[in-house]
Amino acid sequence: MRLLIFLTLTFGSSLSQVSNTTKPLVIWHGMGDTCCYPFSMGRIKKIVEKHVHGIYVHSLMIGGNIVRDEESGFFINSNEQVEDACQQISSDPKLQEGYHAMGFSQGSQFLRAVAQRCPHPPMHNLVSFGGQHQGIFGFPSCPREPEDSRVCEYVRRILNYGAYTKLIQDGLVQAQYWHDPLHEDVYRVKNIFIADINNEKAVKNKSYRENLMKLENFVMVKFLRDSMVVPIESEWFGFYLPGQDEVVVPMNETQLYKEDWIGLKSMDEAGKLHFLSVDGDHLQFDTDWFLKEIVDNFVV
Ligand SMILES: *[C@@H]1O[C@H](CO)[C@@H](O)[C@H](O)[C@H]1NC(C)=O
Ligand SMILES: *[C@@H]1O[C@H](CO)[C@@H](O)[C@H](O)[C@H]1NC(C)=O
Ligand SMILES: *[C@@H]1O[C@H](CO)[C@@H](O)[C@H](O)[C@H]1NC(C)=O
Repeated sequence: MRLLIFLTLTFGSSLSQVSNTTKPLVIWHGMGDTCCYPFSMGRIKKIVEKHVHGIYVHSLMIGGNIVRDEESGFFINSNEQVEDACQQISSDPKLQEGYHAMGFSQGSQFLRAVAQRCPHPPMHNLVSFGGQHQGIFGFPSCPREPEDSRVCEYVRRILNYGAYTKLIQDGLVQAQYWHDPLHEDVYRVKNIFIADINNEKAVKNKSYRENLMKLENFVMVKFLRDSMVVPIESEWFGFYLPGQDEVVVPMNETQLYKEDWIGLKSMDEAGKLHFLSVDGDHLQFDTDWFLKEIVDNFVV
């Protein structure tokens, strides 16, 4: 299954802004996508380069080549992917003074993990497009094309079989952000990625909180008609109240926020959190909106 970004083709504005304070940009693709398809991340890179003359954009390729990169979205352990990204970022000479970052879908929570685990060089602004920051509970709407729906059906069946069994937890990326609110205790113990970066384990990692709070801005874009992410509120850090799967509460009513496990409350009070929404399905936005609301405000 491919979850590609969908940009409405409006190539109106193209102001070039050059300044020696412009920071480079790191982008991370979503599931089924790659660093470099010309119609998705390649296109985002081009649009940003055209709009911000002279900017350096690094689109992360995981696993060393395009084929592995696409597979990585399903089958390379999230923790290894984050480690790979940290290595790339810390060894890229053009990023050493710091950078901004944009994650698409699951690339959003991966980049947040980079901010929390790898503070050098510093990430300044993080923009999340349809990220699943509290994980997902459900795997809806597989596409109709048989070619694409095979992987999708496979992933769905495996998740339903047992997301927290060790084999599946270690081997399937989507299981690593599977968050079952009916079994919150099992999730906290067995989930190897999202429960870890959200500091939901019994032992809290102080550096996760300190590092995330170094961000100047954390921007979360929610797609109001998202048919892929359940619950949609996860894109703004909200989630089901523990013990049931009907009532969803906003970020500020979760325990994670109230006890400030990763610094979200402090960041909120400091005005560093930005909640944006788009009236569209998963990763569907238009170019003008992207340039005006995201690039002009949080990239240049
Ligand atoms: C570029 O940076 C230097 C300081 O490093 C500053 O003096 C100069 O005004 C800057 N130029 C522009 C165009 O921002
Ligand atoms: C906290 O996270 C950092 C970065 O991943 C890791 O090096 C460190 O061992 C962790 N500390 C604890 C107490 O888990
Ligand atoms: C939580 O945030 C919402 C806005 O998203 C706000 O209306 C509400 O008052 C906040 N609740 C608390 C308990 O701060």
